[in-house]
Amino acid sequence: MPKTNPGAPEAVDLTGLRGLLESRPPEARELLPLLRDIQTRYRHLPEEAVRGLSEYLGLPLARVYAVSRFYKSLSRVPKGERLVKVCLGTACHLRGAPALLEALEGKLGLALGETGKDGRFTLESVNCVGACALAPVVMLDDEVHGKLNDESLADLPL
Ligand code: FES
Repeated sequence: MPKTNPGAPEAVDLTGLRGLLESRPPEARELLPLLRDIQTRYRHLPEEAVRGLSEYLGLPLARVYAVSRFYKSLSRVPKGERLVKVCLGTACHLRGAPALLEALEGKLGLALGETGKDGRFTLESVNCVGACALAPVVMLDDEVHGKLNDESLADLPL
């Protein structure tokens, strides 16, 4: 069961963390790729995993945290099983992204930036995913859904 209370102590099964770390060489240039690997596996950066990464790479913990804070895609708080990202870039904005976001907030019962209590969805925004010709665009995990309107929005698997 995914954790839904960001303030609660972490209880994450880190089985397999060692193998995940050792899938890449213990070199400083692997810091960001490994942070992304950890984010993908655990849907956030558990404290113990960040410490393990720091030890594995021989880098100061403060540096690992600094890098992890720099990237919006990396999170200390667990994200939902599915990540819903509304593009608010210029092209999407001009083609109705604000209304799309409002409709998604209503559909998911989430405000922008929130994760549902059931841990199923996290609603976020992005600034252009490089698919402006398909504006307005929503990403479901890595899938791009474009030219959305009220009707096609209802067909999204949410
Ligand atoms: S502005 Fe939305 S994909 Fe470019």
